[in-house]
Amino acid sequence: MKSVNVGLCGLGTVGSGTFNVMQRNLEDIARRAGKPVRITHVGARRDNPACHLGSVKVSRDIFDVARDPDIHILVELIGGNDVAKELVLEAIKHGKHVVTANKSMIAIHGNEIFKAAEAQGVVVTYEAAVAGGIPIIKGIREGLVANDIKWLAGIINGTGNFILTEMQEKGRAFADVLQEAQELGYAEADPTFDVEGIDAAHKLTILASIAFGIPLQFDKVYTEGISQITREDVKYAEELGYRIKHLGFTRKTNEGVELRVHPTLVPSKRLLANVNGVLNAVLVEGDAVGPTMYYGPGAGSEATASSVIADIVDIAREIDNAGNVPHLGYSSETENMPVLPVSEIVTAYYLRITVKDEIGQMANIARIMSEKGINIEAIIQKEPEDDSAVVPLILLTHPVREHRMDDAISAMQALESVTKPIVRIRVEQLDG
Ligand code: HSE
Repeated sequence: MKSVNVGLCGLGTVGSGTFNVMQRNLEDIARRAGKPVRITHVGARRDNPACHLGSVKVSRDIFDVARDPDIHILVELIGGNDVAKELVLEAIKHGKHVVTANKSMIAIHGNEIFKAAEAQGVVVTYEAAVAGGIPIIKGIREGLVANDIKWLAGIINGTGNFILTEMQEKGRAFADVLQEAQELGYAEADPTFDVEGIDAAHKLTILASIAFGIPLQFDKVYTEGISQITREDVKYAEELGYRIKHLGFTRKTNEGVELRVHPTLVPSKRLLANVNGVLNAVLVEGDAVGPTMYYGPGAGSEATASSVIADIVDIAREIDNAGNVPHLGYSSETENMPVLPVSEIVTAYYLRITVKDEIGQMANIARIMSEKGINIEAIIQKEPEDDSAVVPLILLTHPVREHRMDDAISAMQALESVTKPIVRIRVEQLDG
């Protein structure tokens, strides 16, 4: 039986995990693939003491792996965008299949990479790019293939979820928890990617494409981070029966696709609201199956390696017949479906409005909401927390189109009695 030779580029966190799990489970992997699958060439600038490379060929120039005639599958785990893309295109040019965990490269350059792969008759797989060890790509692209996917919502950044969980459970401040997340090694090299939602937007771009059959459109994702979330908002949300989660959310509507990452109030009783710490989860609503949820580690050396190796084995099984599952699975009918600007989305809102503690202020707010045709679902007024004579008004609304809420917020903000910027957090019931 012909064995499959794998070239591994990158020996960092995920690369070393992939190498070690491949070595450790070599026999099981061969049994499951139906043929021996071996890492025979490693490309890395330096060795990693966590990996015993033994007699495996090592190149300091990763492009040597892409050009190695004995390699069938190149595994790109170097991260970053430009060099990674160049490496992948070089491997494709040399007829190699590619496995990658690189979310930003796929979200930004995936359309070009898949086109090149299709022209060469090779496949590029990317299970580990979204939600680390959770097999969500296979889940949607294969397991849910029968369904018309309606929407999906994901906690797809572990660092952000860890921060919000600590704020909620221990009342800790944002900056304090972020520092701990960095020390624990959860955060991206640039932690703004985590807290400002860029990492989640990369992953959501990929999920929306495979769910709805649209091309990858990272530049159209509305992205809002969690750095403005305060302990007060976490507390008020809890009182109203909600938790604040940093969600990647995408929904197909008659007008187009909503594609957004932002803090979201989720009812506390939902399973997704109870996904805590660094864990990830993705809730997918299909027309046939209904809601299904996928939960597990979204990062980590061997957890992410688990997804990388699943892709390697998939390709190894089909090595002479690769390409049965389309890269994104979109057809000419769906690829032109528009992505809606955030002003056109429809959602409910949590508002925290700081007003002077004077007669008639609640009435002013209610009048503006009524003039703008916005239905208030719940309202609470808190006592002043100090002697400043201002009070927080907390409102939950029914769903409304975002530009109408923008108008209402501008009108309320213009009131002389509203003393601070109005806090707005979107609310999703996630009940199908
Ligand atoms: N920084 C990412 C996270 C790592 O926190 O989820 C996995 O992509």
